[in-house]
Amino acid sequence: MPLRDRKVIVTGGPTVEPLDPVRFISNRSTGKMGRAIADAAYMRAREVVFIHGPMHESLLEHTPYRMVEIESTVELLDAVLSELQPDCVLIMAAAPADYRPAEKSPVKIKKKEEELTLRLVKNPDILKTVADIRGKNSALRNMFLVGFAAEMENIENYAMRKLVEKDLDFICVNDVGRHDAGFGVDTNIVTIFSRWGERLELPLLSKKDIALRIIDCVEEGITKKTDKLLP
Ligand code: PMT
Repeated sequence: MPLRDRKVIVTGGPTVEPLDPVRFISNRSTGKMGRAIADAAYMRAREVVFIHGPMHESLLEHTPYRMVEIESTVELLDAVLSELQPDCVLIMAAAPADYRPAEKSPVKIKKKEEELTLRLVKNPDILKTVADIRGKNSALRNMFLVGFAAEMENIENYAMRKLVEKDLDFICVNDVGRHDAGFGVDTNIVTIFSRWGERLELPLLSKKDIALRIIDCVEEGITKKTDKLLP
Protein backbone atom coordinates (compact mmCIF):
# COMPACT_ATOMS: atom_id res chain seq x y z
CA MET A 1 0.00 0.00 0.00
CA PRO A 2 1.56 3.34 -1.08
CA LEU A 3 2.04 6.31 1.24
CA ARG A 4 -0.95 8.17 -0.24
CA ASP A 5 -3.20 5.44 1.21
CA ARG A 6 -1.53 5.35 4.61
CA LYS A 7 -1.84 7.18 7.91
CA VAL A 8 1.41 8.72 9.16
CA ILE A 9 1.91 9.25 12.89
CA VAL A 10 4.68 11.75 13.62
CA THR A 11 5.96 12.54 17.11
CA GLY A 12 7.98 15.62 18.00
CA GLY A 13 9.19 17.74 20.86
CA PRO A 14 10.24 16.80 24.36
CA THR A 15 8.34 15.01 27.08
CA VAL A 16 8.21 16.48 30.58
CA GLU A 17 8.30 14.42 33.74
CA PRO A 18 6.94 16.28 36.79
CA LEU A 19 8.73 16.30 40.16
CA ASP A 20 6.04 18.39 41.83
CA PRO A 21 3.33 20.77 40.57
CA VAL A 22 5.91 23.39 39.46
CA ARG A 23 9.09 21.47 38.52
CA PHE A 24 9.92 18.90 35.91
CA ILE A 25 12.69 16.99 34.11
CA SER A 26 12.86 17.50 30.35
CA ASN A 27 15.27 18.14 27.45
CA ARG A 28 16.05 20.75 24.80
CA SER A 29 13.89 19.42 21.96
CA THR A 30 11.77 22.18 20.38
CA GLY A 31 9.67 19.98 18.09
CA LYS A 32 11.03 21.69 14.92
CA MET A 33 12.19 18.40 13.37
CA GLY A 34 8.90 16.65 14.14
CA ARG A 35 6.81 19.55 12.82
CA ALA A 36 8.80 19.62 9.56
CA ILE A 37 8.24 15.88 9.10
CA ALA A 38 4.50 16.19 9.79
CA ASP A 39 4.29 19.00 7.18
CA ALA A 40 6.22 16.94 4.60
CA ALA A 41 4.11 13.84 5.28
CA TYR A 42 0.87 15.83 4.90
CA MET A 43 1.69 16.51 1.22
CA ARG A 44 1.87 12.78 0.44
CA ALA A 45 -0.09 10.70 2.97
CA ARG A 46 -3.79 9.92 3.38
CA GLU A 47 -3.81 11.23 6.95
CA VAL A 48 -1.30 12.74 9.35
CA VAL A 49 -1.44 13.07 13.10
CA PHE A 50 1.26 15.01 14.97
CA ILE A 51 1.69 13.94 18.59
CA HIS A 52 3.85 16.44 20.40
CA GLY A 53 5.17 17.47 23.77
CA PRO A 54 5.16 21.09 24.96
CA MET A 55 6.24 23.36 22.07
CA HIS A 56 6.37 27.08 21.44
CA GLU A 57 3.00 28.35 20.18
CA SER A 58 4.52 29.71 16.95
CA LEU A 59 5.57 26.17 15.98
CA LEU A 60 2.02 24.91 16.34
CA GLU A 61 0.35 27.42 14.01
CA HIS A 62 -1.21 26.68 10.59
CA THR A 63 -1.23 22.93 10.86
CA PRO A 64 -3.69 21.35 8.40
CA TYR A 65 -3.53 17.99 10.22
CA ARG A 66 -4.70 16.73 13.60
CA MET A 67 -2.51 17.37 16.62
CA VAL A 68 -2.43 15.63 19.98
CA GLU A 69 -0.57 17.23 22.89
CA ILE A 70 1.03 15.09 25.56
CA GLU A 71 3.32 15.76 28.51
CA SER A 72 5.03 12.62 29.78
CA THR A 73 6.61 9.64 28.02
CA VAL A 74 3.86 7.35 29.34
CA GLU A 75 1.25 9.73 27.85
CA LEU A 76 3.16 9.71 24.56
CA LEU A 77 3.14 5.90 24.56
CA ASP A 78 -0.63 5.83 25.20
CA ALA A 79 -1.27 8.40 22.45
CA VAL A 80 0.87 6.50 19.92
CA LEU A 81 -0.81 3.17 20.76
CA SER A 82 -4.27 4.68 20.34
CA GLU A 83 -3.40 6.02 16.86
CA LEU A 84 -1.85 2.80 15.42
CA GLN A 85 -3.42 1.21 12.35
CA PRO A 86 -2.26 -1.94 10.52
CA ASP A 87 -0.70 -0.01 7.60
CA CYS A 88 0.43 3.12 9.40
CA VAL A 89 3.86 4.73 9.34
CA LEU A 90 5.26 5.84 12.71
CA ILE A 91 8.06 8.42 12.67
CA MET A 92 9.46 9.09 16.14
CA ALA A 93 11.29 12.44 16.05
CA ALA A 94 10.25 13.20 19.65
CA ALA A 95 12.81 13.15 22.42
CA PRO A 96 11.00 11.23 25.16
CA ALA A 97 12.56 11.33 28.62
CA ASP A 98 14.11 7.92 29.27
CA TYR A 99 13.55 8.26 33.04
CA ARG A 100 10.90 9.83 35.27
CA PRO A 101 10.93 10.66 38.97
CA ALA A 102 9.93 7.61 41.04
CA GLU A 103 7.62 9.82 43.11
CA LYS A 104 5.75 12.99 42.21
CA SER A 105 5.18 15.27 45.19
CA PRO A 106 1.58 16.58 45.33
CA VAL A 107 2.91 19.90 46.72
CA LYS A 108 5.95 22.02 45.88
CA ILE A 109 9.06 20.39 47.36
CA LYS A 110 10.47 22.62 50.12
CA LYS A 111 14.10 23.67 50.17
CA LYS A 112 15.58 22.08 53.31
CA GLU A 113 18.76 19.98 53.20
CA GLU A 114 22.03 20.88 51.44
CA GLU A 115 21.59 17.90 49.12
CA LEU A 116 18.53 16.44 47.51
CA THR A 117 18.65 13.01 45.89
CA LEU A 118 16.14 12.20 43.18
CA ARG A 119 15.25 8.58 42.44
CA LEU A 120 14.39 8.00 38.77
CA VAL A 121 12.71 4.99 37.19
CA LYS A 122 12.94 3.92 33.57
CA ASN A 123 10.19 4.94 31.16
CA PRO A 124 8.80 2.48 28.60
CA ASP A 125 10.52 2.44 25.21
CA ILE A 126 7.79 3.50 22.79
CA LEU A 127 9.38 2.29 19.55
CA LYS A 128 10.31 -1.05 21.08
CA THR A 129 6.80 -1.50 22.44
CA VAL A 130 5.29 -0.83 19.00
CA ALA A 131 7.84 -3.08 17.26
CA ASP A 132 7.02 -5.90 19.72
CA ILE A 133 3.30 -5.50 18.99
CA ARG A 134 4.06 -5.60 15.24
CA GLY A 135 6.28 -8.66 15.66
CA LYS A 136 3.55 -10.61 17.47
CA ASN A 137 0.75 -9.85 15.01
CA SER A 138 1.11 -10.76 11.33
CA ALA A 139 -1.80 -8.44 10.43
CA LEU A 140 0.46 -5.54 11.45
CA ARG A 141 3.54 -6.60 9.50
CA ASN A 142 3.13 -3.71 7.00
CA MET A 143 3.46 -1.12 9.73
CA PHE A 144 6.54 0.99 8.95
CA LEU A 145 8.69 2.20 11.86
CA VAL A 146 11.18 5.07 11.67
CA GLY A 147 13.29 6.11 14.65
CA PHE A 148 15.77 8.89 15.25
CA ALA A 149 19.04 8.50 17.10
CA ALA A 150 20.44 11.50 18.96
CA GLU A 151 24.13 10.71 19.33
CA MET A 152 27.36 12.54 20.21
CA GLU A 153 29.95 9.74 19.88
CA ASN A 154 30.27 6.41 18.03
CA ILE A 155 27.39 7.77 16.01
CA GLU A 156 27.11 5.03 13.40
CA ASN A 157 27.57 2.15 15.86
CA TYR A 158 24.98 3.42 18.31
CA ALA A 159 22.53 4.16 15.50
CA MET A 160 22.91 0.65 14.04
CA ARG A 161 22.43 -0.83 17.50
CA LYS A 162 19.16 1.12 17.92
CA LEU A 163 17.98 0.04 14.44
CA VAL A 164 18.41 -3.61 15.43
CA GLU A 165 17.36 -3.47 19.11
CA LYS A 166 14.19 -1.48 18.36
CA ASP A 167 13.48 -3.58 15.22
CA LEU A 168 13.06 -0.49 13.01
CA ASP A 169 12.77 -0.09 9.25
CA PHE A 170 14.81 3.13 9.25
CA ILE A 171 16.89 5.04 11.71
CA CYS A 172 17.80 8.70 11.11
CA VAL A 173 20.88 9.59 13.11
CA ASN A 174 21.80 13.17 13.94
CA ASP A 175 25.01 14.33 15.61
CA VAL A 176 23.56 16.39 18.45
CA GLY A 177 27.01 17.56 19.54
CA ARG A 178 27.18 20.02 16.61
CA HIS A 179 25.98 23.61 16.85
CA ASP A 180 24.15 23.38 13.49
CA ALA A 181 22.42 20.03 13.99
CA GLY A 182 20.07 18.30 16.41
CA PHE A 183 18.26 20.11 19.20
CA GLY A 184 16.82 23.61 18.79
CA VAL A 185 18.35 24.80 15.50
CA ASP A 186 16.63 25.11 12.09
CA THR A 187 19.19 22.89 10.32
CA ASN A 188 20.25 19.29 10.73
CA ILE A 189 22.72 16.73 9.43
CA VAL A 190 21.17 13.30 9.17
CA THR A 191 22.27 9.90 7.94
CA ILE A 192 19.51 7.39 7.27
CA PHE A 193 20.15 3.66 7.70
CA SER A 194 17.64 1.06 6.56
CA ARG A 195 17.08 -2.47 7.84
CA TRP A 196 18.11 -3.65 4.35
CA GLY A 197 21.64 -2.30 4.80
CA GLU A 198 21.26 0.94 2.84
CA ARG A 199 22.81 4.19 3.99
CA LEU A 200 21.99 7.73 2.85
CA GLU A 201 24.20 10.50 4.15
CA LEU A 202 22.53 13.90 3.85
CA PRO A 203 24.51 17.16 3.96
CA LEU A 204 23.72 20.13 6.20
CA LEU A 205 20.14 21.06 5.23
CA SER A 206 17.19 22.89 6.71
CA LYS A 207 14.96 20.65 8.83
CA LYS A 208 12.25 21.20 6.16
CA ASP A 209 14.52 19.71 3.47
CA ILE A 210 15.67 16.88 5.73
CA ALA A 211 12.00 16.08 6.35
CA LEU A 212 11.25 15.93 2.60
CA ARG A 213 14.18 13.55 2.08
CA ILE A 214 13.01 11.33 4.94
CA ILE A 215 9.52 11.14 3.44
CA ASP A 216 11.07 10.29 0.01
CA CYS A 217 12.96 7.44 1.68
CA VAL A 218 9.84 6.24 3.50
CA GLU A 219 7.97 6.06 0.17
CA GLU A 220 10.79 4.01 -1.36
CA GLY A 221 11.12 1.86 1.76
CA ILE A 222 7.43 1.04 1.82
CA THR A 223 7.63 -0.21 -1.76
CA LYS A 224 10.71 -2.28 -0.96
CA LYS A 225 9.14 -3.77 2.15
CA THR A 226 5.88 -4.58 0.38
CA ASP A 227 7.83 -6.27 -2.45
CA LYS A 228 9.72 -8.37 0.09
CA LEU A 229 6.47 -9.44 1.78
CA LEU A 230 4.74 -10.49 -1.42
CA PRO A 231 4.42 -14.28 -1.67
O1 PMT B 1 12.98 18.95 18.33
P1 PMT B 1 14.19 19.63 17.73
O2 PMT B 1 14.71 20.77 18.57
O3 PMT B 1 13.96 20.01 16.29
O4 PMT B 1 15.39 18.56 17.75
C1 PMT B 1 15.27 17.41 16.93
C2 PMT B 1 15.79 16.16 17.67
C3 PMT B 1 17.28 16.29 17.91
C4 PMT B 1 15.06 15.97 19.03
C5 PMT B 1 15.45 14.95 16.72
O5 PMT B 1 16.11 15.12 15.50
C6 PMT B 1 15.87 13.62 17.36
O6 PMT B 1 17.01 13.19 17.30
N1 PMT B 1 14.89 12.95 18.03
C7 PMT B 1 15.15 11.72 18.80
C8 PMT B 1 15.66 12.08 20.16
C9 PMT B 1 15.88 10.83 21.02
O7 PMT B 1 15.12 10.58 21.95
O8 PMT B 1 16.86 10.03 20.58
P2 PMT B 1 17.31 8.66 21.32
O9 PMT B 1 18.53 8.25 20.59
O10 PMT B 1 17.39 8.88 22.81
O11 PMT B 1 16.11 7.65 21.05
C10 PMT B 1 16.09 6.78 19.92
C11 PMT B 1 14.68 6.67 19.36
O12 PMT B 1 13.83 6.02 20.33
C12 PMT B 1 14.02 7.99 19.02
O13 PMT B 1 13.27 7.83 17.83
C13 PMT B 1 13.07 8.25 20.20
O14 PMT B 1 11.92 9.00 19.81
C14 PMT B 1 12.69 6.82 20.60
N2 PMT B 1 12.40 6.65 22.02
C15 PMT B 1 13.21 7.16 22.98
C16 PMT B 1 12.91 6.96 24.32
C17 PMT B 1 11.76 6.20 24.65
N3 PMT B 1 11.43 5.99 25.92
N4 PMT B 1 10.99 5.67 23.68
C18 PMT B 1 11.31 5.87 22.37
O15 PMT B 1 10.60 5.36 21.49
